Amino acid sequence: MKALVLSGGLGTRLRPFTHSMAKQLVPVANKPVLQHCLENIRQIGVEEVGVVVGDRAADIRAAIGDGSDLGLRVTYIHQEQPLGLAHCVQVAQDFLGDDDFVMYLGDNVLADGITAAAATFEQRRPDAQLLVVKVPDPRQYGVAVIDRDHVVRALAEKPAVPRSDLAIVGVYFFTAAIHDAVRDLRPSARGELEITDALQVMVDGGKLVTAEEYTGYWKDTGSADELLECNRALLERITPAVHGDVDAESTTFGTVVVEAGAVVTRSRLVGPLVVGAGSVITGSYLGPSTSVGNGCVVTDSHVEDSILLEGSDVNGVRELRGSIIGRWARVSATGEQHSLVIGDHASAEVAA
Ligand code: G1P
Repeated sequence: MKALVLSGGLGTRLRPFTHSMAKQLVPVANKPVLQHCLENIRQIGVEEVGVVVGDRAADIRAAIGDGSDLGLRVTYIHQEQPLGLAHCVQVAQDFLGDDDFVMYLGDNVLADGITAAAATFEQRRPDAQLLVVKVPDPRQYGVAVIDRDHVVRALAEKPAVPRSDLAIVGVYFFTAAIHDAVRDLRPSARGELEITDALQVMVDGGKLVTAEEYTGYWKDTGSADELLECNRALLERITPAVHGDVDAESTTFGTVVVEAGAVVTRSRLVGPLVVGAGSVITGSYLGPSTSVGNGCVVTDSHVEDSILLEGSDVNGVRELRGSIIGRWARVSATGEQHSLVIGDHASAEVAA
């Protein structure tokens, strides 16, 4: 089996971060979303991975390289324009050949892995297998209608009136039968060749398409709120490890990771949280669900439920919550007034 990882797309809902980085490289629990995805693929024994890239190809290549650090062999496949998930299968056809493959959307996080799903696919040998999750409002997803035997009867992409509450997760197991189904698709209303439509072509053509309910934690990290939620879920699964330097005046509670080269002085750390390599935390409180990236500086501040990206600097800030601070960005307290220098499409909520 091979893997096809989709890492194109513009990530407009994740601006401003996606003005300067690929959405798949935004970190959650101090690891790019894409790395979580590649680790899950390696865990099911797949080594041969095609990564479909678009405008941000250079960034993705710089982060993942040839994949050998993760035990993978990565081939990059260029998609000229983001024309849809089924279009990705078309452009990857030479790479995929007649092999089975798992297609994994590079912005989807499945915190509990995909080993059970891979095993079910091997046992049942359908022509294609989806993963679905029951959600209260499935209108922003693909939606599947399935019968009691897990057989998919109908699918729709972001329907205004969903026929079930089963959202389609961005991990699909395919046999080579998918190649016929993607060949003659027409663009959808959003101008894309939809994988959901290709699956409907398979169902209509009498192919066996099955769906398994994913019982672990799943999130499509398309927006800032979704990233923060995902960060909380992944931090709940970390193993404590203090390799950095925590002085005698500091205290830690709960699951805390302090990476090598980080220095924590006169601070209180209440996990689950992670402090990245080379960060300097002084006179501060870091609360639950906080990921501090590499090389950050937090001084005389209170930070919780937040993601600080590499090199950011927080100084004298009393209550920073539910925040994502971009790379090398600075947040400091100046007294009564607010003075902001924030980039395009940024959003700031200040105390009333
Ligand atoms: C894509 C699929 C959709 C699926 C979703 C999962 O949507 O088209 O069927 O439910 O991923 O993340 P998109 O993220 O392209 O809007």
